[in-house]
Amino acid sequence: MVEKKERSIKVVKNGPFLVQGSIPLIKLAIRADDEEYPYEWEEIGVYPLQEEYALCRCGQSENKPFCDGTHDQVDFKGMETADRESYLKNAKRIEGPDLILTDNHALCNHAGFCTRSGGIGNLVRHSDDPEAKKTAIQIAGNCDSGRFMVWDIETEKAIEPEFEPSIAVTEEPERGVSGPLWVRGNIPIESADGYVYEVRNRVTLCRCGKSSNKPFCDGTHITTGFNDGQIQ
Ligand code: FES
Repeated sequence: MVEKKERSIKVVKNGPFLVQGSIPLIKLAIRADDEEYPYEWEEIGVYPLQEEYALCRCGQSENKPFCDGTHDQVDFKGMETADRESYLKNAKRIEGPDLILTDNHALCNHAGFCTRSGGIGNLVRHSDDPEAKKTAIQIAGNCDSGRFMVWDIETEKAIEPEFEPSIAVTEEPERGVSGPLWVRGNIPIESADGYVYEVRNRVTLCRCGKSSNKPFCDGTHITTGFNDGQIQ
């Protein structure tokens, strides 16, 4: 019997993300509300399930989101520079009446969900209003980078969306750019030198090759206009 591999994502030195353990790969697009604020994720595609695959990290594959070996030809420098402290170590904390917000700005990918309805900080400060509380929880759950988390004030337990472990290739059609890889559901990510980053429910990995916070996305794909040719 063939041994089933554990779910994991391995960063290859100056190369792709190696994905193991039959992790589903889907495609999601950010949709905006009537006022053009990022509002929700829409599933726009599902890739055939594979036991193992390699996802492009240099941004230059001709077969995105998969790696085609172009990183070698373009001499991709994929050095990982992300902080290895835990999320909470560098997170600011805002306490509202019903919710606590934690904010680790270094993880921000500028998807922009947090700007809706007066901003997530403001909503948490007014979280004794059921509508504000509901919107704050929704916004935090949509924050693909995991920059924001909300916690119940009484129990201090995180209020997190439940995800099937999966990876989403993201698109930002309103901006006309392609976004990062959204890793959902606590999948371990191992650096090229063997360090396992803090396992989290939501993180985004850079697939444009230009982030200054590799392997994580820092929003540079927006300023550089990264386009995988599949924005819809
Ligand atoms: S995908 Fe590279 S910075 Fe966001």
